[in-house]
Amino acid sequence: MIPIHVGFIMDGNGRWAKSRGLPRSAGHRAGTENIRHIIRTSKDLGIKYLSFYAFSTENFKRPVEEVTFLMNLLIEFFNKELPELIEEGARIHILGDLSLFKPPVRFVLEKAIKSTADNDKIHVCLALGYGGRAEIVRAVNQIIAEGIKKVDEESFEDYLYTAGMPQVDFLIRTSGELRISNFLLYQLAYSELYFTPVYWPDFGKESYMEALEDFARRNRRFGGVEDE
Ligand code: FPP
Repeated sequence: MIPIHVGFIMDGNGRWAKSRGLPRSAGHRAGTENIRHIIRTSKDLGIKYLSFYAFSTENFKRPVEEVTFLMNLLIEFFNKELPELIEEGARIHILGDLSLFKPPVRFVLEKAIKSTADNDKIHVCLALGYGGRAEIVRAVNQIIAEGIKKVDEESFEDYLYTAGMPQVDFLIRTSGELRISNFLLYQLAYSELYFTPVYWPDFGKESYMEALEDFARRNRRFGGVEDE
Protein backbone atom coordinates (compact mmCIF):
# COMPACT_ATOMS: atom_id res chain seq x y z
CA MET A 1 0.00 0.00 0.00
CA ILE A 2 1.20 3.48 -0.91
CA PRO A 3 0.72 6.26 1.67
CA ILE A 4 -1.42 9.26 0.71
CA HIS A 5 0.53 11.80 2.76
CA VAL A 6 4.23 11.47 3.60
CA GLY A 7 6.06 13.80 5.98
CA PHE A 8 9.82 14.34 6.01
CA ILE A 9 12.07 15.62 8.77
CA MET A 10 15.11 16.34 6.62
CA ASP A 11 17.91 16.00 9.13
CA GLY A 12 21.65 15.57 8.68
CA ASN A 13 22.64 18.14 6.06
CA GLY A 14 25.37 19.46 8.35
CA ARG A 15 26.77 16.02 9.16
CA TRP A 16 26.64 14.99 5.51
CA ALA A 17 28.79 18.03 4.64
CA LYS A 18 31.17 17.50 7.55
CA SER A 19 31.73 13.88 6.62
CA ARG A 20 32.93 15.11 3.23
CA GLY A 21 35.03 17.96 4.57
CA LEU A 22 32.59 20.49 3.08
CA PRO A 23 30.95 23.56 4.65
CA ARG A 24 27.43 23.16 6.10
CA SER A 25 26.10 25.26 3.24
CA ALA A 26 27.08 22.49 0.79
CA GLY A 27 24.95 20.10 2.84
CA HIS A 28 21.94 22.40 2.67
CA ARG A 29 22.39 22.77 -1.07
CA ALA A 30 22.56 19.00 -1.56
CA GLY A 31 19.56 18.63 0.75
CA THR A 32 17.56 21.09 -1.32
CA GLU A 33 18.36 19.17 -4.50
CA ASN A 34 17.13 16.04 -2.81
CA ILE A 35 13.73 17.65 -2.21
CA ARG A 36 13.30 17.83 -5.97
CA HIS A 37 14.19 14.16 -6.43
CA ILE A 38 11.77 13.11 -3.72
CA ILE A 39 8.96 15.18 -5.27
CA ARG A 40 9.57 13.57 -8.69
CA THR A 41 9.71 10.03 -7.33
CA SER A 42 6.60 10.59 -5.21
CA LYS A 43 4.66 11.94 -8.14
CA ASP A 44 5.64 8.96 -10.26
CA LEU A 45 4.45 6.66 -7.49
CA GLY A 46 1.11 8.44 -7.17
CA ILE A 47 1.70 9.85 -3.69
CA LYS A 48 -0.60 12.87 -3.36
CA TYR A 49 0.72 14.88 -0.38
CA LEU A 50 4.25 15.60 0.79
CA SER A 51 5.20 17.71 3.81
CA PHE A 52 8.79 18.79 4.29
CA TYR A 53 10.07 20.30 7.54
CA ALA A 54 12.24 22.93 5.89
CA PHE A 55 12.68 25.59 8.58
CA SER A 56 11.37 25.49 12.13
CA THR A 57 10.77 28.51 14.34
CA GLU A 58 13.79 27.26 16.35
CA ASN A 59 15.97 27.33 13.22
CA PHE A 60 15.93 31.15 13.42
CA LYS A 61 18.34 30.73 16.37
CA ARG A 62 21.06 29.37 14.07
CA PRO A 63 24.00 31.68 13.18
CA VAL A 64 22.84 34.58 11.04
CA GLU A 65 25.03 33.51 8.08
CA GLU A 66 23.40 30.07 8.03
CA VAL A 67 19.88 31.53 8.24
CA THR A 68 20.71 33.97 5.42
CA PHE A 69 22.13 31.15 3.32
CA LEU A 70 19.00 29.04 3.83
CA MET A 71 16.74 31.96 2.91
CA ASN A 72 18.70 32.58 -0.28
CA LEU A 73 18.57 28.89 -1.06
CA LEU A 74 14.81 28.97 -0.68
CA ILE A 75 14.52 31.88 -3.12
CA GLU A 76 16.87 30.11 -5.53
CA PHE A 77 14.89 26.88 -5.22
CA PHE A 78 11.65 28.51 -6.32
CA ASN A 79 13.24 30.69 -8.98
CA LYS A 80 14.77 27.60 -10.53
CA GLU A 81 12.09 24.97 -9.93
CA LEU A 82 8.75 26.78 -10.04
CA PRO A 83 8.17 26.49 -13.82
CA GLU A 84 8.73 22.74 -13.71
CA LEU A 85 6.63 22.34 -10.57
CA ILE A 86 3.79 24.15 -12.32
CA GLU A 87 4.18 21.94 -15.37
CA GLU A 88 4.11 18.83 -13.22
CA GLY A 89 0.83 19.92 -11.67
CA ALA A 90 2.27 20.41 -8.20
CA ARG A 91 0.48 22.66 -5.78
CA ILE A 92 2.68 24.45 -3.24
CA HIS A 93 1.48 25.05 0.31
CA ILE A 94 3.39 26.78 3.06
CA LEU A 95 2.77 25.57 6.60
CA GLY A 96 3.90 28.20 9.09
CA ASP A 97 4.08 31.87 9.91
CA LEU A 98 5.07 33.73 6.76
CA SER A 99 5.25 37.03 8.66
CA LEU A 100 8.50 35.79 10.24
CA PHE A 101 10.21 36.05 6.85
CA LYS A 102 11.69 39.04 5.06
CA PRO A 103 9.77 40.52 2.10
CA PRO A 104 11.91 38.95 -0.69
CA VAL A 105 11.32 35.48 0.77
CA ARG A 106 7.60 36.14 1.32
CA PHE A 107 7.29 37.43 -2.24
CA VAL A 108 8.72 34.22 -3.72
CA LEU A 109 6.60 32.01 -1.47
CA GLU A 110 3.39 33.91 -2.19
CA LYS A 111 4.11 33.72 -5.91
CA ALA A 112 4.64 29.94 -5.63
CA ILE A 113 1.37 29.53 -3.73
CA LYS A 114 -0.61 31.69 -6.18
CA SER A 115 0.80 30.28 -9.38
CA THR A 116 0.13 26.68 -8.34
CA ALA A 117 -3.26 27.22 -6.68
CA ASP A 118 -5.21 25.38 -9.40
CA ASN A 119 -2.96 22.31 -9.48
CA ASP A 120 -3.75 19.04 -7.78
CA LYS A 121 -1.53 16.28 -9.17
CA ILE A 122 0.63 16.42 -6.07
CA HIS A 123 0.52 18.72 -3.05
CA VAL A 124 3.89 19.88 -1.77
CA CYS A 125 3.86 21.45 1.68
CA LEU A 126 6.93 23.24 3.00
CA ALA A 127 6.89 23.84 6.72
CA LEU A 128 8.64 27.19 7.18
CA GLY A 129 8.64 29.23 10.36
CA TYR A 130 6.70 26.27 11.64
CA GLY A 131 6.23 24.80 15.10
CA GLY A 132 3.57 22.19 15.93
CA ARG A 133 2.62 23.64 19.31
CA ALA A 134 2.48 27.17 17.88
CA GLU A 135 0.17 25.87 15.13
CA ILE A 136 -2.25 24.42 17.68
CA VAL A 137 -2.19 27.56 19.87
CA ARG A 138 -2.77 29.72 16.79
CA ALA A 139 -5.77 27.58 15.87
CA VAL A 140 -7.23 27.94 19.36
CA ASN A 141 -6.75 31.71 19.29
CA GLN A 142 -8.45 31.98 15.91
CA ILE A 143 -11.38 29.98 17.22
CA ILE A 144 -11.66 32.26 20.27
CA ALA A 145 -11.38 35.36 18.05
CA GLU A 146 -14.28 34.08 15.94
CA GLY A 147 -16.37 33.65 19.08
CA ILE A 148 -16.83 29.93 18.49
CA LYS A 149 -17.83 28.18 21.72
CA LYS A 150 -17.25 24.56 20.78
CA VAL A 151 -15.35 22.59 18.16
CA ASP A 152 -14.93 18.91 17.40
CA GLU A 153 -11.88 17.23 15.87
CA GLU A 154 -13.13 17.76 12.35
CA SER A 155 -13.94 21.44 12.69
CA PHE A 156 -10.72 22.06 14.67
CA GLU A 157 -8.70 20.75 11.75
CA ASP A 158 -10.02 23.61 9.61
CA TYR A 159 -7.91 25.98 11.70
CA LEU A 160 -4.64 24.17 11.14
CA TYR A 161 -2.24 25.06 8.32
CA THR A 162 -3.14 21.70 6.79
CA ALA A 163 -6.88 22.47 6.60
CA GLY A 164 -8.53 20.23 4.03
CA MET A 165 -5.58 17.86 3.74
CA PRO A 166 -5.50 14.23 4.82
CA GLN A 167 -3.58 13.31 7.96
CA VAL A 168 0.04 12.21 7.63
CA ASP A 169 0.25 8.44 7.00
CA PHE A 170 3.99 8.05 7.06
CA LEU A 171 6.69 10.16 8.68
CA ILE A 172 10.31 9.72 7.65
CA ARG A 173 13.14 11.22 9.68
CA THR A 174 16.66 10.95 8.37
CA SER A 175 20.05 10.95 10.13
CA GLY A 176 19.36 8.75 13.12
CA GLU A 177 17.60 11.14 15.49
CA LEU A 178 14.55 9.55 17.17
CA ARG A 179 12.39 12.62 17.71
CA ILE A 180 9.35 14.38 16.26
CA SER A 181 10.84 17.83 17.02
CA ASN A 182 7.54 19.72 17.11
CA PHE A 183 6.57 18.73 13.54
CA LEU A 184 2.85 18.38 12.65
CA LEU A 185 1.95 17.26 16.18
CA TYR A 186 -1.78 17.06 15.55
CA GLN A 187 -1.51 15.54 12.07
CA LEU A 188 0.90 12.79 13.15
CA ALA A 189 -1.53 11.21 15.65
CA TYR A 190 -1.73 7.88 13.79
CA SER A 191 1.28 8.14 11.49
CA GLU A 192 3.62 5.28 10.98
CA LEU A 193 7.09 6.49 11.97
CA TYR A 194 10.28 5.61 10.12
CA PHE A 195 13.76 6.53 11.27
CA THR A 196 16.85 5.94 9.17
CA PRO A 197 20.52 6.71 9.88
CA VAL A 198 20.96 7.94 6.27
CA TYR A 199 21.67 11.70 6.06
CA TRP A 200 19.02 13.66 4.16
CA PRO A 201 21.17 14.49 1.08
CA ASP A 202 21.87 10.74 0.71
CA PHE A 203 18.22 9.74 1.12
CA GLY A 204 17.76 8.94 -2.56
CA LYS A 205 15.29 6.86 -4.49
CA GLU A 206 16.66 3.58 -3.18
CA SER A 207 16.36 4.62 0.48
CA TYR A 208 12.90 6.06 -0.18
CA MET A 209 11.67 2.86 -1.83
CA GLU A 210 13.01 0.86 1.10
CA ALA A 211 11.07 3.11 3.50
CA LEU A 212 7.88 2.76 1.44
CA GLU A 213 8.25 -1.02 1.41
CA ASP A 214 8.51 -0.92 5.18
CA PHE A 215 5.31 1.15 5.29
CA ALA A 216 3.53 -1.32 3.04
CA ARG A 217 4.34 -4.16 5.46
CA ARG A 218 2.83 -2.38 8.45
CA ASN A 219 -0.57 -3.22 9.78
CA ARG A 220 -2.37 0.01 10.55
CA ARG A 221 -5.08 -0.38 13.14
CA PHE A 222 -5.82 3.24 14.15
CA GLY A 223 -6.48 2.01 17.68
CA GLY A 224 -8.91 -0.67 16.52
CA VAL A 225 -8.50 -4.43 16.25
CA GLU A 226 -6.29 -6.30 13.84
CA ASP A 227 -7.67 -7.02 10.36
CA GLU A 228 -8.70 -10.61 9.69
C1 FPP B 1 18.77 19.69 8.96
O1 FPP B 1 20.12 19.60 8.75
C2 FPP B 1 18.12 20.51 8.00
C3 FPP B 1 17.54 21.75 8.18
C4 FPP B 1 17.92 22.82 9.08
C5 FPP B 1 16.43 22.09 7.39
C6 FPP B 1 16.35 21.38 6.10
C7 FPP B 1 16.68 22.26 5.03
C8 FPP B 1 16.89 21.86 3.77
C9 FPP B 1 16.84 20.47 3.28
C10 FPP B 1 17.18 22.87 2.79
C11 FPP B 1 15.90 23.35 2.18
C12 FPP B 1 15.27 24.32 3.03
C13 FPP B 1 15.35 25.61 2.82
C14 FPP B 1 14.82 26.52 3.87
C15 FPP B 1 15.94 26.12 1.58
P1 FPP B 1 21.04 20.07 9.92
O2 FPP B 1 21.67 21.35 9.52
O3 FPP B 1 20.28 20.10 11.20
O4 FPP B 1 22.08 18.90 9.93
P2 FPP B 1 22.90 18.41 11.18
O5 FPP B 1 21.92 17.96 12.22
O6 FPP B 1 23.71 17.28 10.62
O7 FPP B 1 23.76 19.55 11.62
